[in-house]
Amino acid sequence: MLIRVLIRRETARDADVIRAITTAAFASRRPPGQIPPEARLIDELRAGPAWLPALSLVAVTPAGEVIGHVLGTRGHVGQDPVLALGPLAVRPDHQRHGAGSALMHAILGAADALGEPLVALLGDPGYYCRFGFELSTAYQITPPRPEWQPHFQVRVLSEYQPRLRGMFTYPEPFDRT
Ligand SMILES: CC(C)(COP(=O)(O)OP(=O)(O)OC[C@H]1O[C@@H](n2cnc3c(N)ncnc32)[C@H](O)[C@@H]1OP(=O)(O)O)[C@@H](O)C(=O)NCCC(=O)NCCS
Repeated sequence: MLIRVLIRRETARDADVIRAITTAAFASRRPPGQIPPEARLIDELRAGPAWLPALSLVAVTPAGEVIGHVLGTRGHVGQDPVLALGPLAVRPDHQRHGAGSALMHAILGAADALGEPLVALLGDPGYYCRFGFELSTAYQITPPRPEWQPHFQVRVLSEYQPRLRGMFTYPEPFDRT
């Protein structure tokens, strides 16, 4: 069953709940008690130059509870600005009810409306292909680490130009994750 959520920008009051959601969503990949690096990453990005306030979005239930988050920050292909997508997280007790899809559609629509040419991410192609992502190599865009190739994807937007090619670089805080 689909959950009803509204998508909006994060506000100053959302940082703690975003950290909690991200910690819970990524916890299963880490030893118990360890804070997942994805949670720390968001705080580091928020404090740095790659942060784009229009592209940190939360999913809110009708009761006003924030249950999901997605982030777009400034990355580059060669010297050209593009978007880095992630982390994306939905609170485990609300997963598989469409909140993740709502966040993805919202951030891609917002990025397109802002004139961004392309969004890149590292993730499972089985999940992200439903949002129009394709392996980056189809566009002659390479991940910062060659071994990421099978999971490194891009979604081209209205302003995409074929001259956009070369190596993608994440904003600096990703290097520590
Ligand atoms: C990935 C995530 C954000 C999806 O949110 P969600 O609200 O559950 O997503 P939706 O309800 O819109 O979509 C659920 C669908 O995605 C699929 N899905 C979720 N994660 C997937 C993955 N890693 N690979 C393939 N499919 C996946 C589910 O199987 C489900 O498919 P179905 O509808 O065919 O059954 C959520 O599962 C999550 O927070 N996971 C932990 C953190 C994470 O892995 N984030 C993404 C990497 S940055």
